[in-house]
Amino acid sequence: MRFGVLGSGKGSNLEALLEAKKKRIFTGDIVLVLSDVKDSRILQIAEEHHVPAEYIYPGSFRTKLETNQEQEYVLKLKSASVDYVVLAGFMRVIKEPLLKAFSNRIINIHPSLLPAFKGIKAWEQALKYGVKVTGCTVHYVNEDLDSGKIIAQKIVEVLENDTAGSLHDRIQLEEHKLLPNVLQQLLESQKQG
Ligand code: GRF
Repeated sequence: MRFGVLGSGKGSNLEALLEAKKKRIFTGDIVLVLSDVKDSRILQIAEEHHVPAEYIYPGSFRTKLETNQEQEYVLKLKSASVDYVVLAGFMRVIKEPLLKAFSNRIINIHPSLLPAFKGIKAWEQALKYGVKVTGCTVHYVNEDLDSGKIIAQKIVEVLENDTAGSLHDRIQLEEHKLLPNVLQQLLESQKQG
């Protein structure tokens, strides 16, 4: 199964997937990495692992892609024969061009136990609210932010002396295990189906 990964940031989830691939925990192929941020670490990580990687201009909006630019993302993913798109820290809301082209085939990882704490810096929201547990969620992407069908979740305890940074670090450790496992399960269920 061929995966395309979209990200805007440091790419630790991409790295976890590539490491899981080496260990055969994850046996899918990451065939393309796309980013809306030119100098993002995620593009460098892809290149270091010899995965085709490309920056695509997002357009002038801040929180979504311009429609014709989103179409560019679709074209690139389609020409790489991608089956599933994984959002690994992609900081823009996905709209119709991608949703239509990859219907029920876009998966996101979010750093909270959805439906709690949607949107940005979910770990900070959790800390501020004072919850005792938070975590991470892998879910399908639909037209509403962080609202698609939940595939899997992992709980992370909030500790007494946690800072936003320490909490986010522990959530990410769980993300790095959860995402490869979920994608592998998906892959295996598709093989059987
Ligand atoms: C992760 O915490 C993910 O849950 C969120 O964005 C962050 C991306 O981190 N959607 P990285 O770029 O994979 O390190």
